[in-house]
Order: sequence, then structure tokens, then C-alpha cells
Amino acid sequence: MKVTVVGAGGNVGSTVALSIAERDFAKEVIAVDLERKDGDKTFYPSKGRALDQWQVSPISLFDTRVKGTTDYADTANSDVCVITAGVPRRPGMSRDDLLSINANIVESVTKQLVKYSPDTILIVVSNPLDVMVQVAKDASGLPYEKVMGMAGILDTARFRAFIAEELDVSPKDIQALLMGGHGDTMVPLPRFTTLSGMPITHFIKEERLNEIVDRAKKGGGELVGLMGTSAWYAPGSASAQMVEAILLDQNRIFPVCAHIDGQYGVDDLYIGVPVKLGKGGIKEVIEVDLTPEEKELLHQSAAAVRGTLDDFKKLMNK
Ligand code: NAI
Ligand code: 2OP
Repeated sequence: MKVTVVGAGGNVGSTVALSIAERDFAKEVIAVDLERKDGDKTFYPSKGRALDQWQVSPISLFDTRVKGTTDYADTANSDVCVITAGVPRRPGMSRDDLLSINANIVESVTKQLVKYSPDTILIVVSNPLDVMVQVAKDASGLPYEKVMGMAGILDTARFRAFIAEELDVSPKDIQALLMGGHGDTMVPLPRFTTLSGMPITHFIKEERLNEIVDRAKKGGGELVGLMGTSAWYAPGSASAQMVEAILLDQNRIFPVCAHIDGQYGVDDLYIGVPVKLGKGGIKEVIEVDLTPEEKELLHQSAAAVRGTLDDFKKLMNK
């Protein structure tokens, strides 16, 4: 099994590569990034990080060979490709700037990837996530079940970690569901959140739970505020978990940015929903009954994603 990670000289991509290697199910991980010029010097971050990661293997005991490159020919016949290439938002940069810069990057990276791996499965991580998945879908020509985005596992992990801390219990015993776009309008669903099968609403009062929901929704921003750039450990692990579920045909049920058309009353949109993930990618979008209030929140989130998609189309004259 061969996995490619693009943007692997950066924070999220390098963490995805190492997390996959440490899970030890893939034969090789190809870590792609650009060359970096600094004066008359040229650096190769993906090659450097991959070499460093491969040197973890005798310590952490894995066989997965991590190789760094700047040449897409090395990615040929990848079973899964993870796209983390892009820029995080910087001071003075508008949302539209980020949108057009990252869309151009994701589009060109996707075309290179499918040129060498025409049947691959794409997992997009670059932001703004829901729109970047659509960009990759359009650029790849791959079917919907093979193009998806990582956000829901990360966002639920944040929610689960906060609840575990609140109750002083193991995070392993918290299960949660969250839907919607990867942004402030995401919809954590306390009604589908449990401590070892017992409803979380039994353990945490509504007012406090609402505070935790709010912190989870703003979890990405909290980390940007602390570090001056966005997170990478949890995003990297979450992406690796998706790759593993697909390549080991685990039929895991995760919230994933997937294309829906009619489910939950939302037409033709990439957005976070629960799916069954296994061989071939998304095997099924799972539709559960939502209360009118939950559905309304999901529709508000869908409207926000569609707004960004419309901005993107105007910006790119599409
Ligand atoms: P970073 O700046 O550390 O790394 C990005 C890497 O992409 C850099 O090494 C850069 O050289 C590379 N890159 C840029 N253009 C490229 C191209 N054309 N081809 C190959 N590589 C290229 O940024 P970081 O922190 O790793 O974030 C990456 C992206 O992931 C950002 O868009 C960020 O917003 C997003 N993100 C998404 C999350 C999610 O939940 N979906 C969570 C965290 C970050
Ligand atoms: C995160 O949620 C910013 O998408 C990034 O950490």
C-alpha cells in the first residue's frame, strides 16, 4: 500500500506522514513538497522531514518507508493521496486571498496526483476545507466516493477531549457526532454524544454542555491564538486514521466532508456528515433523523459553505 502526502514539508503534512508510518500498515509514504530557496541556498523540506521520520523507524518499530521528494513521478500508483498543501491565513490576508491562493495550489496538486495515480483516493485537508474538496473533485474527475475532506474527526476529537477533561474520564470512552462545514457554523450534536453508551446529557448540565460545544466550535481559533499558526498534531492523526480506515477496509463510521445530494435536505454540496469509510473510499453516507432544531443548524452551516463556494466561483470566474 502506497500513500502520498503533499505539503509534507509543512506542519500538518509532516504529521500525517509520521502518523501513517507509526501505524505501520502502509508499505511506503511519499512525502511531497516544494523546494525552498533562501538566498543562494536551496532547501528540500519534504526530503529532510522524511529522512528524519524514517530514522524514527528503529525506535518506534515500523517498516513503512517514508521517502521525501519534489517529483510527482515518485507518487505513481498511490492508493491514497492526502493534500495538505496550502497557506494558513496570515495577518493582512483576506479570506478571499486565502481562497484563491489555496484553490490554485489544490487544483494544480490534484492534477499532478491524478496524472500519476488515476485511480487514487483523495483526502483534502487544506482550508477552507469544504470548498477545497470541491476544487479537488473538479480537478481530479474522480467519482464522489473517492474525493473527501478531513475535518469532522478533528472537530469531534476536540469536543471529545473537552468532555473527557470535564468529567475526568478517559477520552476513549467518549463518542460524539458532529456535522456541517469546517468553520464556526459546525454542528456538534450532544444528543448523539455518549460516555460509554450513556447519554452525555445525563452527566453534564445543558448550560455547561453549551459552553463546551462553543469551545469545540472555536477549537481551531483557540490554537491559532496560542501558537500564531494553526494546529497540526490532531489534524495529522485524524487524517492518518482516515487513510488507515480506507486501506485496511475497516468500515469505520466517521464524520467526513463528503458530497451529499438530497440527504439531510441539502442538495449538491460537500459538507461534514457521518459516512462508512473503507475500501474504495466512502461506502455510504449515513442519514440519521435530526430534530427540527438540529436540521436548522445544519442548514445554516450548509448555507455558509455554499456562500464560500459562491465567493470562490465569482473569484475564479467559474
Ligand atoms: P504549513 O505552511 O506548515 O505547510 C503547508 C505546506 O504546503 C508548506 O510546506 C508548503 O511548502 C506546501 N505547499 C504550498 N504550495 C505547494 C504546492 N504547490 N505543492 C506542494 N506543496 C506546497 O501549513 P500547515 O499548518 O501544515 O497547514 C496546511 C493546510 O492545512 C492549511 O491550509 C491549513 O489551513 C489546513 N488545515 C486544515 C485542517 C482541517 O481540519 N482540515 C486542520 C489544520 C490545518
Ligand atoms: C483547525 O481547525 C485551522 O482548520 C484548522 O485547526
